[in-house]
Amino acid sequence: MARSSLEDMPVLPLAESFALTAAYNADSFPDKVNLGQGVYRDENSRPWVLPSVRSAEERLHKQNLNHEYLPITGHSPFNQKARQLIFGRELANHQNIRTIQTVAGTGANHLAALFCARYVRPKNVFISDPSWDNHYSIWETAGPDITQKLYPYYDAVARSFNFEGTMAELEDSAEENDIVVLHPCAHNPTGHDPTHDQWRKIAEIVGRKRLFVVFDSAYQGFASGDPDADAWAIRNFYSTFFGYSSPLSKNPPAGMLVCQSLSKNFGLYGERIGALHLITHPSVSAEGAYSHLIRLVRSEISCPALFGARIVDTIWSDSELRTHWEKDVKTMALRIQGVRVALKSELEKINTKGDWSHITRQIGMFSYTGLSKSQVQLLREVHHVYMLDNGRMSMSGLNGKNIGYVARAIKDVIGQAQ
Ligand SMILES: Cc1ncc(COP(=O)(O)O)c(C=O)c1O
Repeated sequence: MARSSLEDMPVLPLAESFALTAAYNADSFPDKVNLGQGVYRDENSRPWVLPSVRSAEERLHKQNLNHEYLPITGHSPFNQKARQLIFGRELANHQNIRTIQTVAGTGANHLAALFCARYVRPKNVFISDPSWDNHYSIWETAGPDITQKLYPYYDAVARSFNFEGTMAELEDSAEENDIVVLHPCAHNPTGHDPTHDQWRKIAEIVGRKRLFVVFDSAYQGFASGDPDADAWAIRNFYSTFFGYSSPLSKNPPAGMLVCQSLSKNFGLYGERIGALHLITHPSVSAEGAYSHLIRLVRSEISCPALFGARIVDTIWSDSELRTHWEKDVKTMALRIQGVRVALKSELEKINTKGDWSHITRQIGMFSYTGLSKSQVQLLREVHHVYMLDNGRMSMSGLNGKNIGYVARAIKDVIGQAQ
C-alpha cells in the first residue's frame, strides 16, 4: 500500500508561550509563578475582567440581542471606534483609512501579510530582532516567497533600542516597496521604544526609500497608560505620508497597514477582537484595495466574531464607560510600573549580581531581563518560575506576594549558570 506523505511529517514543537502555560498548569508546586504569557494578571495573579468591560457585558445582556452573522467587514460601529482609538477622532473619518474587523491582532497580522504577499509583492519583509515570535511564522505562512530580513532592534550591551543598527540595516538592505513591520509602542519582547525624534528619522528613511510599513499595535495604553500618547508613532506616520489635507511627503509610499489588537487593552483575550486598517494616499481611491481585503476575509473566515466587537463599541459609545475604561487601562499600566520598581529594588536589596536598572527603563507588559537561556531553564526547573527562554518576563505575573521569591530565585540562578 502506498504510504501517505502525512506519515512522514515531523512533530513540530508547540509555540513556546502556549507550551510554557501548559507546563505551568501541570506543575503542582504551590509557589509556582507564571511570567510567560503576555496577559494581564491582578495583584492575586488572577485574570482581571476590566470593570468597564463587566458593565458593558451587563448592558448588552439586558438588550436581548440576536446572534446573526456580521458583514464580511465586521461590526461597522466597532470599526469606527477602533479607528478612533488608533487614529484619534479627527483622523478617524478620513476616507483613505479603511477598516476591517479581524480575528484579534494575530488575524490582523495574518491578513496584512497575506494582502502584502498578493498585492504589494515586496522582495523583503523587515522584522525586528527580536520580535513577537509569531511575526516570523505569520510571514512565512502568508508570504513564503518574501525574504525575511531582521533589523537589529536590541543593543544587548547598552540594554536599549539599537537605533543606529536599525537605521543602518534599512539604509543598506531595504529596497523600494519592501515591507517594514514596526511595533508602535511597548515593543514585545524588549520593552524599549524609539523616541519621537528617532521615529521621525525612521519615517524619513521609509519615505525616501518608499517602504511599505505594517504597524502592529498590540499594547496601546500599556507603554504610558495613555492610549493617545501610545498611538503617536502611527498618527505621525499617517500625517507625514497620507494626511488628508496636506501630507508632508510629496512622493509617499503606496500605502500603510495598521494591525490593531484589543486583546490586552480591553482584557478580551479569548474573544479574538482586532482590526486591520488600510491606508492609501488621499488622492487615490481606497475602494479597490479595500475590496481585495474583503475578498481575502470572505475566503478565510466569511465574517468575524460579534461579542468582543459589541463590548468595545458599547464602551466607546458612552462617555462614562469610556472614561471608566481609560481608568482601567491606567490601572493596568501603573500596576506593572509598580512591580518593575519593586522587583528592581528587591534584586538590589539582596545584592543580586549585575545592574538591574533596565527593568524600570523598559516599558509595557514585558521586561527583557537579560537572563540567559540556561538561567531561565534553572528558574523553571529549580524554582518553578516560568518565563520565555529569551529571558522575557511578563511583569504582571509579579505581585507583592511573589516578588521576594522571584528575586531570590533570580539571584540563585545567576550564581549557578551563565
Ligand atoms: C506584538 C504582538 N502583536 C500581536 C499580538 C497578537 O495578539 P492577539 O492575537 O492576542 O490579539 C501579540 C500578542 O502577544 C503581540 O505581542
